Amino acid sequence: MQFGHFDDVRKEYVITTPKTPLPWINYLGSEDFFGLISNTAGGYAFYKDAKLLRITRYRYNNTPLDNGGRYYYIKDGETIWNPGWQPTQTELDEYTCRHGLGYTVITGKKNGLKAQMEAFVPVHDACEIHRITLTNESEAEKDVDLFSFIEFCLWNAQDDQTNFQRNFSTGEVEVIGSTIYHKTEYRERRNHFAVYSVNKEIEGFDTSRDAFIGQYNGFHDPEAVLEGKSRNSVAHGWAPIGSHHLKAQLAPGASESFVFVLGYCENPRDQKFVAPNVINKKPADELLAKYQTDAQVDAALDALHTYWENLLSTYSVKTADEKLNRLVNVWNQYQCMVTFNMSRSASYYESGMGRGMGFRDSCQDLLGFVHLIPERARERIIDIANTQFEDGSTYHQYQPLTKKGNADIGGGFNDDPLWLIAGTSAYIRETGDFSILDEPCAFDSDFSKAVPLMEHLRRSFGFTTKTRGPHNLPLIGRADWNDCLNLNCFSEEPGESFQTFGPSEGPVAESVFIAGMYVKYGNEYADLCEATGLTEEAADVRAKVAEMVDVIEDAGWDGEWFVRAYDAFSNPVGSKVCEEGQIFIEPQGMCVMAGVGLENGKAAQALKSVEERLDSKFGIVLLQPAYTKYHVELGEISSYPPGYKENAGIFCHNNPWIVCAETQLGHGDRAFEVFRKTCPVYLEEISEVHRTEPYVYCQMVAGKDAPTFGEGKNSWLTGTAAWTFTAISQYILGIQPTLSGLKVDPCIPASMDGFTLNRKYRGVEYKITVDNSAHAQKGVAEMYVNGNKIEGNVIPPVEGTTAEVKVIME
Ligand code: BGC
Repeated sequence: MQFGHFDDVRKEYVITTPKTPLPWINYLGSEDFFGLISNTAGGYAFYKDAKLLRITRYRYNNTPLDNGGRYYYIKDGETIWNPGWQPTQTELDEYTCRHGLGYTVITGKKNGLKAQMEAFVPVHDACEIHRITLTNESEAEKDVDLFSFIEFCLWNAQDDQTNFQRNFSTGEVEVIGSTIYHKTEYRERRNHFAVYSVNKEIEGFDTSRDAFIGQYNGFHDPEAVLEGKSRNSVAHGWAPIGSHHLKAQLAPGASESFVFVLGYCENPRDQKFVAPNVINKKPADELLAKYQTDAQVDAALDALHTYWENLLSTYSVKTADEKLNRLVNVWNQYQCMVTFNMSRSASYYESGMGRGMGFRDSCQDLLGFVHLIPERARERIIDIANTQFEDGSTYHQYQPLTKKGNADIGGGFNDDPLWLIAGTSAYIRETGDFSILDEPCAFDSDFSKAVPLMEHLRRSFGFTTKTRGPHNLPLIGRADWNDCLNLNCFSEEPGESFQTFGPSEGPVAESVFIAGMYVKYGNEYADLCEATGLTEEAADVRAKVAEMVDVIEDAGWDGEWFVRAYDAFSNPVGSKVCEEGQIFIEPQGMCVMAGVGLENGKAAQALKSVEERLDSKFGIVLLQPAYTKYHVELGEISSYPPGYKENAGIFCHNNPWIVCAETQLGHGDRAFEVFRKTCPVYLEEISEVHRTEPYVYCQMVAGKDAPTFGEGKNSWLTGTAAWTFTAISQYILGIQPTLSGLKVDPCIPASMDGFTLNRKYRGVEYKITVDNSAHAQKGVAEMYVNGNKIEGNVIPPVEGTTAEVKVIME
């Protein structure tokens, strides 16, 4: 069953009922100010940091579901309704929600009145714009009341939900004309305030939630709206809100628009006040002046469209499969931008309070983002490197606002360091900008100890080189990519964190997955050494990598697949000798991607085992057989019921590793089959099963052992976005940035006749045509650049800013 459809021309997903299986959301904002908005206008806004600078309040896991957002109430006679259906849930005559790139348009119609809400964050301003347009489509004149509503968060979202003995006394506001200023804690250490304003004269306002809603009413039946009259309340403590009351008189056919701005403003510390406890409103005045007219709003929307058009023009493909085109050209890249911006902080499943920026997560997010805005990727790499420790190990997370490592969770996740090489290498392969390697980066944010980024990469590699266990495999520490494989934790008490309980380091438990990473990213590090003239170091790194390959092929090989790990007793995990959890997906994907066993058949055998043992109709499950009981020596992985999350769920993040791995062996048909299974645009027709948005990936789909097989969870913020884009753009369609230029090496289904592709790369726009009339799966027979036949399949430097590339597959 579908709940909407794609509009490819406008690059929108059009939702046609407010009652989607779960809230289907979108993200507003590209730089500092962000909003999450659902198809019923739920969600919240924040500035830079979803925990520390939360602008509006949202209650997770609430009932009714998705309750709280930017709500516009219309009172038309006795009927009270919202264009997005929530929170009144008044049945609408018509409803659509169009989620586009950085904006959402929700339109509702009731009794001949149409109300449209356009919501977006302008490209360079710290505010959300909500333009409400009322149109009288009836034959009679209409006299309607419009009420706005948002609920302010008292900035620190965590405190806001917990520290009520303080919070109920701190709230403060000012109201001047049509503008409401939220200034809780401004009197003390904050130099920022929020503003909520409308471009018309108002009938009245409210800033006290209790006054507006009534003590025992809810968002669905606020007393002020029921009565059609604001209270002009001024909040003192309790729960400050912003609400405006406006009136519209509409002749038949007439329209009127109202521009609301919800903004974030800062003042220099010495210019906070114009009178005792009265805010200096200059930054708010400047901001609001920019959005007073429809023409200004239209221009800002146009600028947003242009911004996205430019970004997406970097990579776009045309194949005969329109679903593939929309995924690659629009939605996958869009999700990559969102994961880059948010890491794992704020979604409808990540509360924005728990996790800051993940070290490994952010490094991987870069892989799918770096071609869009390389300068921001560069900045991010340096921010991440600044949190590394001197011995090459790293914090697992850092806070986006302070950019400091998060001491609560600490370090000891032994895959983290190698991801820094992955991210940096991707950046240089994209841009050719080797100067990043000379950038001084701190250790643990101590800039007096700064050394060039290249030294950080050296220490990353060096850390894994020396941190080894009894089989000479890398020690796993608290966990590797799989946060839930906690081999040193041994937790017996509920409530202990699997990630931070127990010693971070054990001298025995080892990871074959990290060994695979060491090979893959060790080689990428050696490439960087070679390219910068460090020939001896490159040779040394390659020798160490070769030793690791031997270790994997020996202690890491189980006969038909790669072992996953060795536990703290040196017993294998992910081996046929295990009772449960005999085979895991991660080492098969990573080791084959790294090239281990390509020549001697082990790689092919491992992937065959994946197909035989882990595949399902909705994707490849993480492990089999699922753990049916809690294993204290394995940790969180065995805490989930079978089929969920890391315990044999379809963890979408690592399915693309198998896609990439299959292409290493030239299996274009199989690579595409694996790609398709978890790809949301192909699941649109079964949205009642899949449940999450059909336009973005979710972290996990319930596996075949789960009673709800096929149900997606935790959409948006997942490394799946970046890895899928890498898999489809570089490994299947085969457009691979390398240190020496753009390589074209497609591995596609034999049935595909070919494709055309536009790729902007290092200042040149390449128009690439791939001809697969041979119906091959892999292999480039001939390649022409501007009509000239070239050797090999790496495009040599060209003159000018465009080039035609023709590739003939064999
Ligand atoms: C985390 C990743 C981790 C994955 C698998 C995600 O929730 O953000 O860092 O690799 O789970 O455990």
